[in-house]
Amino acid sequence: MSKIKVMTILGTRPEVIKLAPVAHELAKHKKQIKSLIVLTGQHRKMVDQFLQLFKIKPDYDLDIMLKNQTLIDVSCRCLARLSKVLEKEKPNLILVEGDTTTAFIASLAAFYLKIPMGHVEAGLRTFDKYRPFPEEINRQMMTLIADMHFAPTKKARQNLLNEKIEPNKIFLTGNPVIDALQYVARKKKIINCEIKRIDFKHKKVILVTAHRRESFGQPFAQICQAIQQIAALPQVEIIYPVHLNPNVQTPVNKMLKGLKNVHLLKPLDYQSFVHVLRNCYLVLSDSGGVQEEAPAFNKPILVMREVTERQEGLEAGVAKLVGMDTANIVSQVNLLLSSDSAYLQMSKSASPYGDGSAAKRIVQAILKQYLPENQVL
Ligand code: UD1
Ligand code: UDP
Repeated sequence: MSKIKVMTILGTRPEVIKLAPVAHELAKHKKQIKSLIVLTGQHRKMVDQFLQLFKIKPDYDLDIMLKNQTLIDVSCRCLARLSKVLEKEKPNLILVEGDTTTAFIASLAAFYLKIPMGHVEAGLRTFDKYRPFPEEINRQMMTLIADMHFAPTKKARQNLLNEKIEPNKIFLTGNPVIDALQYVARKKKIINCEIKRIDFKHKKVILVTAHRRESFGQPFAQICQAIQQIAALPQVEIIYPVHLNPNVQTPVNKMLKGLKNVHLLKPLDYQSFVHVLRNCYLVLSDSGGVQEEAPAFNKPILVMREVTERQEGLEAGVAKLVGMDTANIVSQVNLLLSSDSAYLQMSKSASPYGDGSAAKRIVQAILKQYLPENQVL
């Protein structure tokens, strides 16, 4: 029997976090699967620590990142370099995750070469072309290309069914981000020294992250103004690991540097970030992954966006859309700081995004698809 050659393609921080558990699971089936890992290098520094933590050793590193790269830069460099690897290796299946340019361009390259594609975290939708940009359209285009759709939630599965995807191509798996959190929980804790110095016991610690392209410019300035105003409250300590994108670095450093209780940090390693999530009071973020993680720690998350594809958190009452308007962000934070009942309502236990077995389900679905029934273990 020849092995199934599965090529996992990743490029950015969240793709490493969410595909690492899948790569671990693929590696458990060495008899049936030859697993190859390709790093496009869309992110450079921001993925290194994650590769180490999850012990992922890429077979290829395409090293495409440029400083302040445009979507066209990433797309052209990724398509040109990746297609050579695909032509050489001719995998039976590629696996991609989410909605980044790496994931979409890898899907496109595979389509051109008639290589089947499996989409992890399929079926998320805002139905708003430019929000998030370009992720919403990346996802929709990937759905057209995918041969196996790994839906994290029932809602995502329903979105795919509504788009006439055949039910037998959709696999309800949960999101492997929860598998990743469980992996971190099993590891010996090593926490960044700047985080160790934060007084989580006596202060109300607010964790902030923001990096969406559609927020660059004025909305980002409004977010920073909100943080300035929140930082005026003496009981608050703000931890803000700043994304390396220059469109984020510049306004954040200009507007927030030097404020006593605002800790502007380099992007945090995963263990330290999870430690902050576990111990903070609330989260203010526009991140996709953080919307999935915060409820796993019973932490209220105020989402600085107009729309979200992660509706499950809103429905469970653990996430709230607050937009990018300064006054609204400040008043929603104030509400959670001042009202115990408002805080309790949002900090209830809910984990609508998975149970820690997503990677196992994804790999089982692949084995069933590619092997005769009696050889699936
Ligand atoms: C990308 C994804 C976004 C995802 C985010 C996760 C696209 C279009 N966007 O956005 O969906 O939510 O990653 O963080 O795929 N940089 C560095 N070092 C790094 C990483 C980035 O210096 O390790 C800087 C570079 O100047 C780079 C810039 O950040 O040009 C932007 O990186 P890019 O991957 O294009 O966009 P993100 O905003 O990170
Ligand atoms: N994260 C991290 N360190 C940080 C910021 C984020 O480890 O300083 C992790 C976070 O736990 C989540 C992921 O990175 O799993 C989210 O990445 P990001 O917000 O960049 O991308 P998105 O999920 O919005 O695509």
